[in-house]
Amino acid sequence: MSLLAAIPGFPSNQTSLNPAGPAAAHIEHTFALIFWITATVYFITLAVLMYFVWSRRWTLALAPIPQPTSDASDRLATRAVAAAVAVTVLLLFVMLISSFVTSHRLGKMNDQQALTINVYGHQWWWEIQYPNEAEPYRMVTTANEIHVPIGTPIRIHGTSRDVIHSFWAPNIQGKRDLLPGYNTDVLMQVDKAGRWRGQCAEYCGMQHAHMSFYIVAEPQQDFDNWMSAQMQPSVVPGNIQAMHGQQVFLSHACVLCHTIRGTTAGSHVGPDLTHLASRSTIAAGMLPNTVGNLGGWILNAQALKPGSRMPPNQISGPDLQDLLAYLETLK
Ligand code: CUA
Repeated sequence: MSLLAAIPGFPSNQTSLNPAGPAAAHIEHTFALIFWITATVYFITLAVLMYFVWSRRWTLALAPIPQPTSDASDRLATRAVAAAVAVTVLLLFVMLISSFVTSHRLGKMNDQQALTINVYGHQWWWEIQYPNEAEPYRMVTTANEIHVPIGTPIRIHGTSRDVIHSFWAPNIQGKRDLLPGYNTDVLMQVDKAGRWRGQCAEYCGMQHAHMSFYIVAEPQQDFDNWMSAQMQPSVVPGNIQAMHGQQVFLSHACVLCHTIRGTTAGSHVGPDLTHLASRSTIAAGMLPNTVGNLGGWILNAQALKPGSRMPPNQISGPDLQDLLAYLETLK
């Protein structure tokens, strides 16, 4: 099935046909089995139908001639139907067993050494947390980008902060609904480096289609570097412009919803911005994280993503420039 994923232009970083880890590989095997069984049955049925249509093509126009059926042809028909029923039941059982085996394998994945990552679905973005039991104050919180080390078992500990969402990165695992007030664990592992795209797979309101995320799989060393950078509080502004930008942030409505660790901004309604500039997209994978997009988003997010919780902001041009300069330093 990976042939399909090799077609140029095929979005190979968001498809269950190009597995990047064991969970998705198990699912792909079941999918391939069911696909080939149903495709074969479909074409055999079509071929038999065509054969009879073709062999009776001259007699169809005439009134049917009553023909006494012989015992022999009756027996043949009965046997053919019985054989078809038996084969159908057998194939259904093969698919059922394959399905069971896949579920069993997904449940049996290594969870002993798994790295736990908390995922919270929000309308319409993903809050990502790396709990740190030894040093809780160093817990890493980010949004819409889940960094993972290659070849390490991961436990996604998921729930929702509002309505039902569904966590799905097709190259890596199967869909899992995130329900408010209920925790669910998904085991997975990524064996191929890359940026794997995932998307909310349960209709959750107006911007459901713009609720995507990336799983960034990288070698252990890169992951460790990323993690230790994320654990740091935000950088102290290094120049007058960034310093003023921070004041703009702290004196506007931004602080009512966002956190920037190392400052007085500590609200958890919207994404944590401590390391905003280290992320490649904003608005849950909707826009590349550029100064222009960020400026537009701050001034009038409703024009870009109607219905999102980010309100429009009245900020003067010079203040906005300084604010953007500050946000750009939050690596
Ligand atoms: Cu969240 Cu659809």
